[in-house]
Amino acid sequence: MTATMTALFGGAAPQWRARHIPVPEPGPGQVLVRAHAVSLNNADVQRLDNSFDPATGKKTEYPAGYEFAGDIAATGPGVRNVRVGDRVMGTTQGAFAQYVLADHRHLMPVPETLGYDGASALPTALLTEHGALTRARFSSGQSVLITGATSSIGLTGVQMAKALGASLVVATTRSKAKEALLKKIGADTVVVTNGRDLTQAALDATGGDGVDVVLDHVGGQTFADCLPATRVDGHIVNIGRLEGPRSTVDLDALSYRHLHVRGVSFGFSRPEALGQVVAAAIDEVVPAVADGRIRPVVDSVHAFDHAHEAADRMRSHQAHGKIILTVP
Ligand SMILES: NC(=O)c1ccc[n+]([C@@H]2O[C@H](COP(=O)([O-])OP(=O)(O)OC[C@H]3O[C@@H](n4cnc5c(N)ncnc54)[C@H](OP(=O)(O)O)[C@@H]3O)[C@@H](O)[C@H]2O)c1
Repeated sequence: MTATMTALFGGAAPQWRARHIPVPEPGPGQVLVRAHAVSLNNADVQRLDNSFDPATGKKTEYPAGYEFAGDIAATGPGVRNVRVGDRVMGTTQGAFAQYVLADHRHLMPVPETLGYDGASALPTALLTEHGALTRARFSSGQSVLITGATSSIGLTGVQMAKALGASLVVATTRSKAKEALLKKIGADTVVVTNGRDLTQAALDATGGDGVDVVLDHVGGQTFADCLPATRVDGHIVNIGRLEGPRSTVDLDALSYRHLHVRGVSFGFSRPEALGQVVAAAIDEVVPAVADGRIRPVVDSVHAFDHAHEAADRMRSHQAHGKIILTVP
């Protein structure tokens, strides 16, 4: 193994900067993964844009990236669930690097049917959407409303809900141009929210009762619109706040419908708690990845040394799926 590697850092410039640094050694409970592909999340670009301000001279340098796919190059003391050479995908801070240190509990096996590019697109989405469905006590036969369904994690949520037996998946987008994509990946009803009332559309799709479960990636007023779109005793999980963190809700809708509302943010979980989310995803959704019921939706693949193009693509909000970097 070479002694140095290239890793991308944010915070010192408007774009990520490549730096040559020593390959890290895995400590107790850690693995070193030779990354072959990494992929972008909304949070990567938000953090990049917030950590550097030329006007004020603000610079907060940090190792960039959250998710990766590759093979195990070395294991630290106490690691028994994986071996050198295993193909894995997972999440960690500092994933945009040739070698990535990760907690052994935060890895999933890459099915043989999947290449590294596709695998790098899945870890955050699998963990987040499955973790949210689990917290919503979702079971086969229930109906699910997914807001912001064309977000990279929402695209996995739609497929996952269908793979786990949802009777109906209602998916939202603001863009008529993305309707076909949502239909193609299995949404039963697509609501284009530009011009259509979300609450009424969800009620219409469920015979007036409302959906059993909402996975909300949008927040803002959309979150409020989900309450009267949910059936009595139903569950709403807020995952993202693409439209903003504030919402004015109708407490009558909340109380008369006896709704269960909660939020999740798996990036802020304790390592052990995240490990439990990963373990459940390995059991319950990785098999659906292996047999093709859940597939990565890839927008574009970029070279590692053209990461700025990938960031610009994400800022454009034109992406149809995940934006991936191949690691040299
Ligand atoms: N809770 C967790 O653990 C967790 C984990 C990962 C991500 N997240 C959060 O989940 C959200 C999605 O993340 P991502 O990385 O998958 O996002 P992403 O791929 O960047 O999502 C982009 C899509 O979101 C939609 N969108 C953007 N701004 C919007 C707005 N103002 N109102 C409604 N829709 C909007 C657009 O779809 P249309 O053009 O089709 O409308 C856009 O194509 C983010 O808020 C992220 O922070 C949470």
